[in-house]
Amino acid sequence: MTTLEIKQAVKRYPNGALAVKGVDVTVEDGELVVFVGPSGCGKSTLLRMVAGLESVTEGEIVLDGRLVNEVEPANRNIAMVFQNYALYPHMSVYKNLAYGLKNRGTPKAEIDAKVREAAKLLQIGDFLERKPSQLSGGQRQRVAMGRAIVRDPAIFLFDEPLSNLDAKLRNQMRLEIKRLQRRLGTAAIYVTHDQVEAMTLADRIVVLNNGEIEQIGTPAQVYGAPASTFVASFIGAPPMNLLKAQTGDGAIVIGESRIEAPVRANGPVTLGIRPERAHLANGSGGADGPPMKVDTVEELGAVRLIHGSVGGQHFTANQSADEPIPGDQVRLRLQADDLHLFDHGTGRRL
Ligand SMILES: Nc1ncnc2c1ncn2[C@@H]1O[C@H](COP(=O)(O)OP(=O)(O)O)[C@@H](O)[C@H]1O
Ligand SMILES: [Mg+2]
Repeated sequence: MTTLEIKQAVKRYPNGALAVKGVDVTVEDGELVVFVGPSGCGKSTLLRMVAGLESVTEGEIVLDGRLVNEVEPANRNIAMVFQNYALYPHMSVYKNLAYGLKNRGTPKAEIDAKVREAAKLLQIGDFLERKPSQLSGGQRQRVAMGRAIVRDPAIFLFDEPLSNLDAKLRNQMRLEIKRLQRRLGTAAIYVTHDQVEAMTLADRIVVLNNGEIEQIGTPAQVYGAPASTFVASFIGAPPMNLLKAQTGDGAIVIGESRIEAPVRANGPVTLGIRPERAHLANGSGGADGPPMKVDTVEELGAVRLIHGSVGGQHFTANQSADEPIPGDQVRLRLQADDLHLFDHGTGRRL
């Protein structure tokens, strides 16, 4: 049983930069938690605080009930996988995998068994005598993961481990990491700026912005009910449309058009509509949603993106390629359930 608690964690760098501003996260046993957010939002800093590679300015890092703030990285029972793999270039794959165990004084036979088991799991058994320079990016990534696995840690920490791989390999390795984590049942924190990685890998997602948590939830929760306009535009691609609108008298008003909806808000709001929930009807076509002016159509294969404007504001709708290509003027067909309302000032969900 492993749980990790990050309690009110604050990180102020010596130069005064406040990188993490009071973050609370708990990682449950066997859970894969993804920290996602734009570059510079504090993901790596937070992960490195958990690993013990950065000091904790305020707050607590508690692993299995033990406060580890002052515990050396090597004694935290944590294994970290980095973006640049951090392999020893002069050592063979075998030695790279064995190194940490050897340092801990593990008996040779046990090291050998663990290295071979990890190599088998990661399908790198044929490369054990090669140097890292003789491996592809994907193979190096596997070795880096193997090195974490042989330590049999309480928790894995991944810091953007796939960013040096091409798109196809990234998708493949993403799936492998998920399978491996499930199979080992080891808790993990995975840091990425890529919302697709976050959605596909996570049991729970922690969305970070500017050193603070915007939302914690399952992928379905952060996609289905984003807590703020930040989350709404960060999770999902293309991002949720955000329109300035007015509310009152049981309706949302965008430009000239009214959408009847059971709204409690009264006054200006930001209205969010996901592109994939904005259905289009040519001409009047039975739809009574606001009109959309179409200017560009992008074909993506199975779906197409329709770009234009609603009430003078940019708007993108997403439709199946089976549907007829819309004309210049269409109407949106919207359902009340698909409308997200946010405070126009704070951006928080209403
Ligand atoms: N060693 C450091 N000294 C001062 N500021 C730092 C240091 N490392 C990171 N920062 C700053 O802390 C913030 C968070 O950085 P980081 O955790 O690397 O973000 P992310 O991993 O989300 O891209 C950024 O503003 C960055 O410039
Ligand atoms: Mg980083």
